[in-house]
Amino acid sequence: MTFKTMTAAEAATYVKNGYNVGLSGFTPAGSPKVIVPEVAKIAISEHEKGNEFKINLFTGASTGDSVDGELVRANALNYRAPYASCKDFRNGVNSGAIAYNDMHLSQMAQELRSGFYGNLDIALVEALEVTDDGKIYLTTGGGISPTVCRLAKTIIVELNHAHPAELKGFHDIYEPADPPYRREIPVYAPSNRIGTPYIQVDPKKIIGIVETNKPDEARPFNDPDEVTTKIGQNVAKFLANDIKNGTIPSSFLPIQSGVGNVANAVLSALGEDENIPSFNMYTEVIQDSVIKLMKEGRIKFGSTSSLSVSSDCLKDIYDNIDFFKSRIVIRPTEISNNPEVARRIGIISINTAIEADIYGNVNSTHVCGSKMMNGIGGSADFTRNAYISIFTCPSVAKGGKISSILPMVSHVDHNEHSVNVLITEQGIADLRGKSPRERSEIIINNCVHPDYRPIIREYLAMASSGQTPHNLHAAFAMHTTFVEKGDMHLTDWNEYKK
Ligand code: COA
Repeated sequence: MTFKTMTAAEAATYVKNGYNVGLSGFTPAGSPKVIVPEVAKIAISEHEKGNEFKINLFTGASTGDSVDGELVRANALNYRAPYASCKDFRNGVNSGAIAYNDMHLSQMAQELRSGFYGNLDIALVEALEVTDDGKIYLTTGGGISPTVCRLAKTIIVELNHAHPAELKGFHDIYEPADPPYRREIPVYAPSNRIGTPYIQVDPKKIIGIVETNKPDEARPFNDPDEVTTKIGQNVAKFLANDIKNGTIPSSFLPIQSGVGNVANAVLSALGEDENIPSFNMYTEVIQDSVIKLMKEGRIKFGSTSSLSVSSDCLKDIYDNIDFFKSRIVIRPTEISNNPEVARRIGIISINTAIEADIYGNVNSTHVCGSKMMNGIGGSADFTRNAYISIFTCPSVAKGGKISSILPMVSHVDHNEHSVNVLITEQGIADLRGKSPRERSEIIINNCVHPDYRPIIREYLAMASSGQTPHNLHAAFAMHTTFVEKGDMHLTDWNEYKK
């Protein structure tokens, strides 16, 4: 069977108003790049004619600007799930223009299969190669591709020649059976392969191929600075101590590491600490620092859902592709983030908080309780099921005007029952086995910036008795002070003492 080749503009005409659209990729890695901007053009032209044109979008995680950015700017997004990190998208969500379902990444594929979102009309999938009998070889991201390819009524493939043919073989495609027929996922170590290197689809569903040569829309990382390096050193110190006292086996455990600048810096520091043995990763993103540490032999193997690396780093991987082929496997997100696997193989999760509170509750998603930053991503898939769950963040944000540790988080993504350790550049709060009152002491002493320690202590002195002391009138006073006066230092507790 030879597939019809078409232009991106022609492919876009198959995407209709109100469609449920599923995409390949995980972060900009492996997301389609040329069809969606043409869909955005159709939306603009339909809007000019006074017609409605919006789609519902389902992805593995965030995408590049050519997906979320283009669609938002064209006012063509009605609904979106799960994670997204583009600034225009953030503005669209926070203005109320887009219905955003910020859900756990590991559950997206299963919920689509379960029919929670209705039928999937079309899948747009970036590939390295498609065979006549319907084998689709993906590029740099796993995401929800196997599921959207199976569920969608039609598939259009973006055949992207920017990726080398040697990338074939990095993927391990496995879709679990749905309850009540599911068995355990047979991953017993990060390097285990359990599926096929391709997605098998009915070739009759592939209605077109769009050829392109567009690289992943990779984002550069900030270089580690004094604060993020110190956070990373504290994480290494904590883990080294746990290995020394036998809490972590001397053979070590697989590491999961989150997205963003802080996570990238933390891993670098972990690799540099000679008290940390070389390790494996069971994670959803491989960022630049992982690639560097693999080359240095500090990371032995990485199981991931994407190569979320900068352009230079991706070039480095492609230049040394044989080296990395034996060290990386790219999985669908419901396997890379699978809670059952994470719990069984005993991962150590390290994710980044926007803010945490004095009892160990963590907010990863919202600024001042209502403004979405990116989303929860896979952080809870791992945190809730980790052998040890760690959250890191700088002790202050926005030049010191915000304390990242507060009396009460303004939104809860990970609660005190799941968070084992909180680490800032100030120090380490090991919360394991501690009561809320003990936790508040350790967090204030070890993690809060010295400027804010007296302010938070004063709050605690006003708090009621109880298992988890709080003063409900004052619990968000530091947040409201920031909103009203632009600086949490200006919090005046006297108002609450009246
Ligand atoms: N209040 C307001 N803004 C805050 C803040 C706070 N308490 N803490 C951080 N920020 C802002 C920073 O100022 C920065 O803003 P800018 O882009 O305008 O400069 C932005 O958040 C990102 O912070 P940065 O310090 O660069 O951290 P990061 O790149 O490591 O990202 C998260 C941190 C929390 C946003 C990011 O890790 C995330 O989206 N996490 C949720 C999903 C997740 O954990 N996925 C991983 C699962 S594997």
